[in-house]
Amino acid sequence: MVRETWATRVGFILAAVGSAVGLGNIWRFPFVTGQEGGSAFLLVYLLFIALIGFPAILVEFVIGRRTKLNPVGALRELGSGLWNHVGWLFVITGFVILSYYSVVAGWFLRYTLIGITDGYAAGAASPEAAGALFGSVATGLDSLLFHAIFMAIVIGIIAAGVRSGIEIAVKVMVPAIVVLLVGLAAYGFTLDASTEAYAYYLSPDFGVILENWTSILPAAAGQAFFTLSLGMGVMITYASYLGEDRNLAEDAGVIVGLDTLIAVVVGFVVFPFLFAAGLSPGDGGAGEIFVSLTVAFTEIPAGRFIGVVFFGMVGIAALSSAISILEVVTSYLIDERDLDRVPAAASIGVAIFLLGIPVTIDLVFLDLLDKFADDVLLVLGALLLSVFVGWVVPELARDELEKGIGDLGRLGTAWIWIVRIPIIAVVFISLYLGVVEYVDFLTDDFAAWLAAR
Ligand code: PFF
Repeated sequence: MVRETWATRVGFILAAVGSAVGLGNIWRFPFVTGQEGGSAFLLVYLLFIALIGFPAILVEFVIGRRTKLNPVGALRELGSGLWNHVGWLFVITGFVILSYYSVVAGWFLRYTLIGITDGYAAGAASPEAAGALFGSVATGLDSLLFHAIFMAIVIGIIAAGVRSGIEIAVKVMVPAIVVLLVGLAAYGFTLDASTEAYAYYLSPDFGVILENWTSILPAAAGQAFFTLSLGMGVMITYASYLGEDRNLAEDAGVIVGLDTLIAVVVGFVVFPFLFAAGLSPGDGGAGEIFVSLTVAFTEIPAGRFIGVVFFGMVGIAALSSAISILEVVTSYLIDERDLDRVPAAASIGVAIFLLGIPVTIDLVFLDLLDKFADDVLLVLGALLLSVFVGWVVPELARDELEKGIGDLGRLGTAWIWIVRIPIIAVVFISLYLGVVEYVDFLTDDFAAWLAAR
């Protein structure tokens, strides 16, 4: 079977941007920013994106384009010994992330529909009513149903293939996300509360960073990897479909730049909405954006319409990310297990759907999976990939990066050394802190939940 390739360069870039821009930017980013002290977190996060995210995305690109294989096969081809098995981690991570990602994406679909059929007023009489509405959407049959619908769409796109599935889908979805988001930000600007919201968002308090660095650091690293879809082989897989040698650094710059810009613009949308409704970004966690925004959408002018556009836009963004996760696992089954695309995508998709079911029953499973995947698995994946490129195959990686760019001279050496020392150090510390936090969660919140059974 001939391996598929992207039809166009734009197709590849849009697919990567579509993967990067998702729930991470819109659902996770504002509440993590709120939890970690507002703009102080934003600053550390931006630094991480530039210093760690950009070189790290190149790491995945060179591995993918060099081998033209799925992540498991790619590491097996380039490495030896233990490296033969590392790729498995990515398949498992993909499984875990997509299982809860799809549940959360389903909530956005449901909220879009609520806006269309009933409006948000019923859920906004009081914060309690908003919480009750969220509870009814987030768990139970509704949640299960929309999780199923979302996974069915994801499977459909991946079953259709790289060109006729992913590429066509992202060419529609990514421009739609950008247009809707810019429109929403312009609307946010017209609200009276925007000045106060921008001030909260844009004036970092350095004291907060110094006091809370043990939680800001892993949160910023985790968020940087999560938002760029790094650490689980998405960018390896997407780069493996590149037919010719292009300038990978340029593509990476466009992708990282767009993802970051969109995350920052999301802040200009969400925070004015919250402040306009007299709410301040707290540490409400996963449900916060739903609870506070339903209140906001009944307070602000044309709120119902704005709400439908907002929740719908997030649903699209989640879809363009979810397909990239399913593609990693599907490409593994196609390359390594000789399965056809349609049965591969369908069987894995159904298995992922099943794994997500506990999240639709109790939200404690969302934390259990999200914290584990994000603060541990992705960071571990990124660490292993950096060690691999930095220390095991640096020459080959550099050679691959130079294709389509030309001799990089010192820049190439600098890239390898950035991967070798600072990236590995920061990622390692983040992994350590992430594991500590996760063990804390298991022995604390999760243990309490179990004890209450
Ligand atoms: N980057 C996506 C987001 O920000 O929502 C999430 C994601 C996709 C994470 C793919 C990891 C991944 F492999």
